[in-house]
Amino acid sequence: MGEHTDTLDYFEKLLSDKSGGLDIPAGVIIETVQGEGGINVAGLEWLKRLEGICRAHDILLIIDDIQAGCGRTGKFFSFEHAGITPDIITNSKSLSGFGLPFAHVLMRPELDKWKPGQYNGTFRGFSLAMVTATAALKKYWTNDTFERDVQRKGRIVEERFQKLAAHLTEHGMPASERGRGLMRGIDVVSGDIADKITSKAFEHGLVIETSGQDGEVVKCLCPLTISDEDLLEGLDILEMCVKAVASE
Ligand SMILES: Cc1ncc(COP(=O)(O)O)c(C=O)c1O
Repeated sequence: MGEHTDTLDYFEKLLSDKSGGLDIPAGVIIETVQGEGGINVAGLEWLKRLEGICRAHDILLIIDDIQAGCGRTGKFFSFEHAGITPDIITNSKSLSGFGLPFAHVLMRPELDKWKPGQYNGTFRGFSLAMVTATAALKKYWTNDTFERDVQRKGRIVEERFQKLAAHLTEHGMPASERGRGLMRGIDVVSGDIADKITSKAFEHGLVIETSGQDGEVVKCLCPLTISDEDLLEGLDILEMCVKAVASE
């Protein structure tokens, strides 16, 4: 595909090409913000159009909200920003609200073909995680106070990351900021530069990951409950490390 080909134009073309040899897929599964893929943010209009294509071709729309869900992007489900309604949703990570293992799959009732007891396994139904998840849902998600706070902290990170990206760019290291809510990254284009920044950060007591094909995105996935004080301290450490790497 050319650099400027819209992926949905291409997808639609494949679906409607009767002699293309492509069977209509049963489902499309996507992350609205790719976590390990490098904080690639799907546009809201793009998501709406994808939903329309799925409906038109009777394809299930599955949102993998394992990393972007549970409030990470500033809404409980990451696709809420786009106002779309998926057929199947996966959730995990902070779902238990307490760091306990817990994952679930939500689906339209008519898609649930399992009979009671048919879908089972040794580790299913971890009762303690269900109790903590229920408590977390009640504490954080019965009004919009928490999501507005996540969005506010996301804007703080966005602004600081934009400045750091501009600083790197001014010093001959092209960089850009991207993300949604508190799922944000600085694409520094090179995995080596990203490693230098994160290694320096580690020396100063800040654990920050990378993602992307070459590990070129410095990725902030701080706790949603982080205090402003801790958030600003972390951002200050990162700024110091980025500036040190930029002037090397
Ligand atoms: C977006 C996404 N989907 C799926 C997974 C796998 O999750 P699990 O280990 O719960 O199967 C991960 C793990 O990082 C993820 O980030």
